[in-house]
Order: sequence, then structure tokens, then C-alpha cells
Amino acid sequence: MKIIMVCLGNICRSPLAEGILKEKARARGLEITIDSAGTAAYHAGERPDRRSQQIARKHGIDISQQRARQFQVADFDLFDKIYVMDINNFEDIVSLAGSEKEAEKVELILNTIYPEKNLSVPDPYYGGNNGFEKVYRMLDASCEKIVEDILANNADR
Ligand code: 4NP
Repeated sequence: MKIIMVCLGNICRSPLAEGILKEKARARGLEITIDSAGTAAYHAGERPDRRSQQIARKHGIDISQQRARQFQVADFDLFDKIYVMDINNFEDIVSLAGSEKEAEKVELILNTIYPEKNLSVPDPYYGGNNGFEKVYRMLDASCEKIVEDILANNADR
């Protein structure tokens, strides 16, 4: 299983999603590949936003070694599942898909816990620290569900 988390800048939301899912996978002994990327390249090469690093650290997760990169069309081949944070990310990534099969890999991350509601993880970039706490909680709940679903599917086989 290979999963990529996608937001706009790859410095606020998707680095947190990557860090949280990696920690949950590690804790449950799940060997999955997890990465993140942005639809835009503005922040390519940068570390996560200081506020994302802080909220992660508060929860015992170190995301300081991550570096931002832009999503590439080749990522459709490299990953089984593409979780996007908001509707804009969804439209941007689906528009890059080369086939229906590739487009089907793209899912709004909050649909894991609120099926078919098509809710967005709000962009916290221009807000205060409170926004990051809220984003953390949404991503923590979503990643918990992702890990539980993978474990349940593994048990079926
Ligand atoms: P992210 O947040 O998509 O969660 O990484 C943003 C980061 C940077 C910008 C927008 C959103 N920006 O406009 O530079």
C-alpha cells in the first residue's frame, strides 16, 4: 500500500497528514509507504510551516525533516491512494489524471470519516494557531480510520 497526502503548498496540511499517518502505521506495525506533495510549487524544498511543526511536536511527532515538493503526474503510478485536503486540490489532481483508474485513486481525506459529505480540511496558512489545532484533530481522526481500514482489509485476506 502506497499513500500520498496532497494539499496546495505541501507546508501546512499534507505534511501533518504524512507525519500523523506514518506514526500510526509505525505504532500498529503496518509497513506502508507514505509521502506528501502540493498542487503548487511555491514552497518546493521548504520545511513544513513552523506552526505545523509545532503542533506535530506537541503530539510527539517530528515532521521537521520533510521537504515540500509539487505533485507530479508520475505520482499516479507510484501511489495506490491519493488523499487530498480540499475541493480545489481534488479538482486540480483529478484534472491531471490520465485515465478513469487514476482519477479513482483521488479521495477527499475527510470522506474517510464523513462519507460522501465532500468536506474540506480548511487551509490554516493565513489564520492563527487555533486553525492548526483544528486541522490536527481532523487529520488525526482521518488517519486513524485509514489505518483501521487497512488493518481490517489485511485481516480479510
Ligand atoms: P497548505 O497551506 O496547502 O496546507 O500547505 C498553504 C501553504 C501556502 C500557501 C497556501 C496554503 N500559499 O499561498 O503560499
